[in-house]
Amino acid sequence: MRKTAIGISFKMYKNKQAEISAYLKEIIPYCENKSEIDVFVFPSMGTLETVSKLLEKSSIHYGAQIIAPIANGALTGEFSIDSLLDLNGDYVELAHAERRKIFKETEEMVRQKLILALEKRVTPVLCIGENTEEKINLRSHLQKQLVSAMKDIPLSSLKKVILAYEPIWAIGKAKAASSEHIHEAHQIIREELLSIFGVKVAEEIRIIYGGSVSRDNVAEIVNDDNVDGVFVGRFGHDPKNFKEIIDTVTKIKIAREKNVR
Ligand code: PGA
Repeated sequence: MRKTAIGISFKMYKNKQAEISAYLKEIIPYCENKSEIDVFVFPSMGTLETVSKLLEKSSIHYGAQIIAPIANGALTGEFSIDSLLDLNGDYVELAHAERRKIFKETEEMVRQKLILALEKRVTPVLCIGENTEEKINLRSHLQKQLVSAMKDIPLSSLKKVILAYEPIWAIGKAKAASSEHIHEAHQIIREELLSIFGVKVAEEIRIIYGGSVSRDNVAEIVNDDNVDGVFVGRFGHDPKNFKEIIDTVTKIKIAREKNVR
């Protein structure tokens, strides 16, 4: 059984230390003793140090929304994975659609960052997903993204990757993609992982869904064995909603596991 993973990215929304502190103070006690799931947080980059102090003794994972493709060097304004490690962060978000589109991150950069993260033993949350035009060739698009980011990486470290399936057309919208679409896409990703990287990687990699996840749609989304969790955005900005999302996902996954036994 793969461990359920539930994450949230604050993109560039909660940018002040007091805002993120108030948020985490609500979440930390709630997440105590939740060893059956992995909860992770990607705060606005300028609040990472505050987050690292607040989460020091918590089981909640945290990390950076970006890293540079190399750990050290002449890259003005970039963020080094060494700074993340120095702050004891153990997760990193890679290749979000906004990074690919607005900041022109290329497939090659994504690959370099993935290799670096795995070398430094940081868990990468690698975002993949199609735009509206690419939707008609969904399988070949997803396959291309998987191959370009993950080819020739030792299989033993690849298993650590969390894939976030985020259809670009469902990010920042009122509604998520339909659960039918999500379940189909996750199945495609699982099948492609199997054919490209073999059974161990396909069985162990977690695939989570992101794109307008909310407390209203999350139950349907995770009610499928290929969906190992969710990656939340705006609809988790109220800590009550994020807690409700965690609660719903945990209950559904526990119930599904019981049915399998
Ligand atoms: P959203 O963000 O839930 O606000 O659409 C999700 C994401 O971009 O990961």
